[in-house]
Amino acid sequence: MAGKATVRVILLTALVVSSAGAWTAVPAAAELKAPEKFTTFCVPCHGPAGEGNGPAAAALNPKPRNFTGGKYMNARTDAQLINVIKNGSASEKFSPQMIGFGNILNDMEIKDIVAYVRSLAVPKYQPEK
Ligand code: HEC
Repeated sequence: MAGKATVRVILLTALVVSSAGAWTAVPAAAELKAPEKFTTFCVPCHGPAGEGNGPAAAALNPKPRNFTGGKYMNARTDAQLINVIKNGSASEKFSPQMIGFGNILNDMEIKDIVAYVRSLAVPKYQPEK
């Protein structure tokens, strides 16, 4: 009995260690869904509703982008948004205050976050066919 329990603990530990990716980055980022990732990585600056008014925004100039501003946001291409999220805002010639998340989020995760950011736009984002 005790032996079996010990094996289970060891297996569990191995699982946790391997999924945490050698203790780097933010643990278990891969298991979070886009809105949760947005909360973890983006809300501090972009705010809970993506309005560019997170707690860290007060100290920033220019302010983080307001994702609800559809008039501006809907004119931006997916490639532009992906570039900013992956490589930082300076990569699209914005202020360098937003770092890139390319070492924390993979391409699929960034695509999901772009879709989430798009869902906040007013008026609604209409993808080109
Ligand atoms: C340290 C604060 C900070 C964090 C954290 C942050 N951003 Fe930003 N972000 C900014 C700022 C500031 C700008 C605007 C820069 C400017 O206008 O010069 C910006 C701009 C953007 C843009 C604008 C792109 C465009 O085409 O106008 C997108 C998209 C974006 N951020 C997405 C995200 C996402 C997604 C996350 C989370 C993964 C995130 N940001 C995390 C500060 C941040």
